[in-house]
Amino acid sequence: MLDFGNINIYVFDSAEEIGVKAAMLLSETIKENHKSNVCFATGGSPVGMYKELIKLYNEKAVDFSGIRAFNLDEYYPIQKSNSQSYDYFMKDNLFNHINIDFNNQFIPNGETKDVDKECKDYDKLIEENGGIDFQILGIGTNGHIGFNEPSKSFKANTHLVELAESTINANSRFFDSMEEVPKYGITMGIKSIMMSKRIILIAYGENKAEAIYKAFFEDVTPEMPASILQFHRNVTVLLDKGAAKLVEEKFKARNK
Ligand code: F6R
Repeated sequence: MLDFGNINIYVFDSAEEIGVKAAMLLSETIKENHKSNVCFATGGSPVGMYKELIKLYNEKAVDFSGIRAFNLDEYYPIQKSNSQSYDYFMKDNLFNHINIDFNNQFIPNGETKDVDKECKDYDKLIEENGGIDFQILGIGTNGHIGFNEPSKSFKANTHLVELAESTINANSRFFDSMEEVPKYGITMGIKSIMMSKRIILIAYGENKAEAIYKAFFEDVTPEMPASILQFHRNVTVLLDKGAAKLVEEKFKARNK
């Protein structure tokens, strides 16, 4: 582990090992508090973690029946039945395979006609439930967390966002054509993320190395949204060697 004060960085040989560690951290939290509020992410980064959580559940090593599940974001507009919706993703990759109560799965509604109300209601729901205990994050190559894209200011609350071109390009790998990739999303804001008790951020691949380096070793700026995590008191970053490339160089230089 590379220890940078409030930020612990673990470097693994493979994405599978990251998944095992991340699943272990969440299952420990759930064992300590059966009623944990967990905020999940979608995309490639947490898939290994979710596979491992399903394995642990099948081995009866973790019980999800008491947790409340929130999600960081959802495309807008999108039907839940669309196989690219984050609602569908969560069911397909995790929720349908574990014993989480269907009534305790909360994802911003990409079908809503009233986005403003949806955003306000989502923040209220998180707040009324006491905030997030365990927050799972990936990171965009542009440094976004959730769909909090690089911008002139940090947005505190859940909001509608126009996706950055780099995000649309990155997400196009899941769609048949560029036209089908949604251009907007609803995302939890920086406030709920920063108020969560514990954060784990997962990244693998050399294409994430620069974002990781800038997020944790350069200035805190809304142009690199993940950099705000430097101000959080309990962040664990799980990387493979590719994503850790620049961080490891920094660590070696520091300890010379
Ligand atoms: C997804 C999300 C995004 C992703 C990020 C990385 O719910 O919030 O911030 O975590 O775009 O995506 P992957 O993991 O596909 O590289």
